[in-house]
Amino acid sequence: MANYDYDVLIIGAGPGGYVAAIRAAQLGLKTACVESRETLGGTCLNVGCIPSKALLHGSELFEEAAGGHFATWGITAKPTLDLAKMMAEKSKAVGELTGGIEFLFKKNKVTWLKGHAAFEDAHTVNVGGEKVTAKDIVIATGSSVTPLPGVTVDNAAKRIVDSTGALDLDEVPEHLVVIGGGVIGLELGSVWRRLGAKVTVVEFLDQLLPGMDGEVRKEAQKIFKKQGMDMMLGHKVTGAEVKGKTVTLTVEPAAGGEAKTVTASHVLVAIGRRPNTEGLALDKAGLSTNNRGQIEIGHDFRTSVDGIWAIGDVVPGPMLAHKAEDEGIAVAENIAGQTGIVNHDVIPSVVYTAPEIAGVGLTEEQAKEKGIAVKVGKFPMMANSRAKANRDTDGFVKVIADAANDRVIGVWMINSLAGTMIAQAAQAMEFGATSEDIAYTCHAHPTHAEAFKEAAMAVQGKPIHM
Ligand code: FAD
Ligand code: NAI
Repeated sequence: MANYDYDVLIIGAGPGGYVAAIRAAQLGLKTACVESRETLGGTCLNVGCIPSKALLHGSELFEEAAGGHFATWGITAKPTLDLAKMMAEKSKAVGELTGGIEFLFKKNKVTWLKGHAAFEDAHTVNVGGEKVTAKDIVIATGSSVTPLPGVTVDNAAKRIVDSTGALDLDEVPEHLVVIGGGVIGLELGSVWRRLGAKVTVVEFLDQLLPGMDGEVRKEAQKIFKKQGMDMMLGHKVTGAEVKGKTVTLTVEPAAGGEAKTVTASHVLVAIGRRPNTEGLALDKAGLSTNNRGQIEIGHDFRTSVDGIWAIGDVVPGPMLAHKAEDEGIAVAENIAGQTGIVNHDVIPSVVYTAPEIAGVGLTEEQAKEKGIAVKVGKFPMMANSRAKANRDTDGFVKVIADAANDRVIGVWMINSLAGTMIAQAAQAMEFGATSEDIAYTCHAHPTHAEAFKEAAMAVQGKPIHM
């Protein structure tokens, strides 16, 4: 049997890779993880989930004080913004968490190989000129921003930026145009709107948030508009010109028609992300990508080459940190000879705006496309006592059950605590719950979560408070 440097080598230390490395080491495998960034944690910890949530939190506090909920409750405050301090606090959170992964690597005896990895063959990678061999290799290289032809991102110049640049602006934009009404556009658009920017979202489709349930998308659009975000739906940006502090964008109707110009002080390009495989020399390992640039895998995360596995944003499926993490655990367990499984039908997704937007399972539209007859129950937050007490009544909870057996196949919601409440829905679905199971589960009063119970009761046709 060949002698390898490591049992397992993982390429990339994002939520997929670092979690796979820790679990592999926990299972007794000699493990190394290659990461080219200066810090561990990948996109999520460095320039994704964590810094964006830190700024969402900070900016929400500012807006509340500046006239949001503070005013509703008779509290008068005249906040001033120290943006540098807010950014420093965000960086502190990032530093503490990325440092935490370094600590966990040491604790679990995972070797961090610093540098860029490229395949030499199916069991060998080159890291900074050194050959490293492993019996099993996991590709967890993640994704990066999809470029938009005609709109060149320059994060250093801080005028046309991607999400990484938008997390690091040193002034509040006068007018931020966000290209793409998806998750990044709405989260980071919300951050800068709350801090005082005029925000215009240009979205190619005629609705925001593709992939989410139709009713939730409609409600979200209404709420973001009410909050003061301008929307140019059904439009695409085809060019950008920067002159001093002004960016002039060419915007065209998606369906064709006359182009117009829109001027902005800053532009955020957020039209999606694409898998990172460039520079990996996949061909030397006998691997290729599909027409979306992803590495295809089987249900157990094996690629077409024996001994090479892939997880996270670089493979098909939603580009979400928790999906990558669960795949990281499962792939390590499979490599160790155990049975690692991820139920890809129950991956929650959350947009961390205010209110939050969350869902798990099928949308009503997807269920219909699949020919599944459904029973739907909806409960408005307006009728939820805790939301009413908090003066926090935007949104609703929607439960979608299979009409044949009452099994819950999708839950969608928009409300202030949706990101937390969706975990209960995911757990119920994982356990195969029916809407009746949820309707007869005692929920604490008064909580927002009671709206989930009442939506399930509405599937049964018997909500109490509506
Ligand atoms: P990544 O986190 O991208 O990590 C891959 C790592 O591999 C990188 O550090 C990269 O440097 C390294 N790498 C790549 N190629 C090589 C190579 N050849 N050699 C060495 N190292 C290499 N998801 C959520 O679930 N919740 C959120 O709130 C959320 N917020 C987000 C906000 C923003 C602004 C962005 C951009 C993304 C957000 N995401 C969120 C998505 C989330 O960040 C990704 O789904 C997640 O990071 C994917 O994990 P991963 O391990 O597959 O890849
Ligand atoms: P996205 O796929 O969510 O949204 C991109 C939007 O841009 C779509 O609505 C699309 O129709 C639109 N678009 C595409 N081309 C366009 C064009 N030329 N002009 C105008 N609009 C155009 O992608 P986004 O927001 O960049 O996020 C990337 C990924 O990062 C997401 O898929 C998500 O998985 C992940 N993410 C997750 C977060 C979370 O879980 N809270 C937060 C941020 C990112």
